[in-house]
Amino acid sequence: MHITLSALLSLAHLSLTLAATTSNAISSIANATLTPPIRYYLKTSVIDDDDSDKNDLYVTSWHTGAGFGDATLRPFSTLNKTVGFLNDTRQQFDLYTSITYGMIMAPSDNLEHVAWNFVRINDLASNAGDGSMSGFFFNASGLQWEGEGVWMSAGWLACDWWHGVPQLFWVFSRHLTSIPSSCAIVELLPFAV
Ligand SMILES: *[C@@H]1O[C@H](CO)[C@@H](O)[C@H](O)[C@H]1NC(C)=O
Ligand SMILES: *[C@@H]1O[C@H](CO)[C@@H](O)[C@H](O)[C@H]1NC(C)=O
Ligand SMILES: *[C@@H]1O[C@H](CO)[C@@H](O)[C@H](O)[C@H]1NC(C)=O
Ligand SMILES: *[C@@H]1O[C@H](CO)[C@@H](O)[C@H](O)[C@H]1NC(C)=O
Repeated sequence: MHITLSALLSLAHLSLTLAATTSNAISSIANATLTPPIRYYLKTSVIDDDDSDKNDLYVTSWHTGAGFGDATLRPFSTLNKTVGFLNDTRQQFDLYTSITYGMIMAPSDNLEHVAWNFVRINDLASNAGDGSMSGFFFNASGLQWEGEGVWMSAGWLACDWWHGVPQLFWVFSRHLTSIPSSCAIVELLPFAV
């Protein structure tokens, strides 16, 4: 099933208001893949209200080297032109250069034992081996990833980290028991540019 993003927010509202009477019809809508706007920012929506300082932040590349960046989360006023678009199942970003940047889910040597890992915004051409760059799609819960070689889909974590601003991590939900107090579990919703 495929429906346009214009329905996303009203759909989320619908599933909330009808949660008490969930039917097969509603669950088949709620599982649908959605088409995002052509160009969008990715905005956090905190699932746990206690961590509201991670709400309404925008995925922004923090340049760490030639062709490398970390996915940080910044207020709209400091947004540094990190415009997203979906290319097949790649979450790409237009950083207004000729380089093709994309979201890369950093791998772990230790998938069985860690609970989350870095999200990079790297030059896809030169960093193809440094994690997974495809397997992204949108549904009513925002950006989703079901990577190759990983047994289940990921969630998103926003934490205060070493750049001094909140940073995005991807979560292996199977291992998530508790999270540091600076972290919040978030969704990443597309916000049309
Ligand atoms: C939607 O997801 C729920 C829970 O995972 C599942 O029970 C249901 O069969 C799914 N519906 C469709 C249409 O895929
Ligand atoms: C979106 O997809 C993820 C991963 O498959 C799933 O866990 C989640 O329940 C989906 N959300 C909705 C609203 O269908
Ligand atoms: C924002 O963009 C400017 C150039 O437009 C660059 O000098 C600066 O390093 C960028 N900031 C971050 C945090 O990436
Ligand atoms: C989309 O991805 C393909 C590879 O799958 C690549 O060749 C193409 O350049 C990408 N398009 C853009 C606009 O980056």
